Amino acid sequence: MAEQKKRLLTGLQPSGQLHIGNYLGALKPFADTAPEYDAMLMIADYHALTTVRSATQLRENIVDVVADYVAAGINPADVVIFKQADVAQHTELAWIFECLVTVPFLSQAHAYKDKVAKGLEANAGLFNYPMLMAADILLYDTDVVPVGEDQRQHIEYAREAAAKFNIAYGETFKEPKEMILKGVGTVPGVDGKKMSKSYNNTIPLFGTDDAIRTAVMSIKTDSTAVGAPLNPETDITFQLHQHFTPNLAEIQKRYMDGTIGYKEPKELLANNIIATIAPMREKRAALSREAVIQILKDGAEVARAKAQAKMKLVREKVGVALY
Ligand code: TYM
Repeated sequence: MAEQKKRLLTGLQPSGQLHIGNYLGALKPFADTAPEYDAMLMIADYHALTTVRSATQLRENIVDVVADYVAAGINPADVVIFKQADVAQHTELAWIFECLVTVPFLSQAHAYKDKVAKGLEANAGLFNYPMLMAADILLYDTDVVPVGEDQRQHIEYAREAAAKFNIAYGETFKEPKEMILKGVGTVPGVDGKKMSKSYNNTIPLFGTDDAIRTAVMSIKTDSTAVGAPLNPETDITFQLHQHFTPNLAEIQKRYMDGTIGYKEPKELLANNIIATIAPMREKRAALSREAVIQILKDGAEVARAKAQAKMKLVREKVGVALY
């Protein structure tokens, strides 16, 4: 009998245009490894409510992100694509986990701490964010979670939630493992900090050629390198070349020899990014809104059946199932 495939699940917030950090850090590794697993991809629309206030914007973002993922290589015939709010068991299980963990424990979460450190008011949703994410993962007996480095702590939280539940009520949840690809853990943005919408330093994945070129040309060049050969180990442009450039060794040699200027590596990078995404862009343009909605409906049905079965067990274990 064929061995059962392990479950792989990842999620992403529908918070606007995907950037190449999302693509390299999450989307591509997910597309590359999904066929070996029983794979699920979840759109974290309830997580997005911690920041997004416009319903119109949220609806648009959800459709866009699914279309982006499908165009970028996730095949809905192989991967269950669904959104969190379509499976009520996520918020239900999150509540149960919230009753098992303490306030000081959740206060250690980076996303929450960062917001407080900046003097911003964190809503209770942001505070509880890790437990909803734990529910996303644990509901499906997930083995591996491919994510970028910034999500490592959240997977630790998920393991803790599983362990706390198992101790309180008996073995119920699997402890998941993160899958963080080396060298892709953190993709730098144009300023060298982690590429992130909140830092305004992104290179859009499905932007126009012009938008991609403008972003790439704005990549910071090490000011100490002016007049000297650029150091490929620290040059942000070169870090990005590693992901898009077929003749990398040749470019690296030119960096070392000092036979490449400051502008040319960026022009080459922009061309290579555009060439990589051209076929995806065509596919993206051919996907209708109706097709995306159908993908989400089909995915929700599959996910709901799994989540219902797991929650039936959980409700029995915690003592709320009487009949
Ligand atoms: P989100 O929406 O912020 O990001 C989606 C994925 O993209 C990765 N990523 C990056 N990787 C490398 N370099 C970067 N510059 C970069 N920027 C983003 C993120 O690590 C992530 O893998 N909390 C999650 C969503 C979520 C989730 C889940 C993930 C909700 N439930 C369950 C996994 C499992 C988030 O906000 O990701």
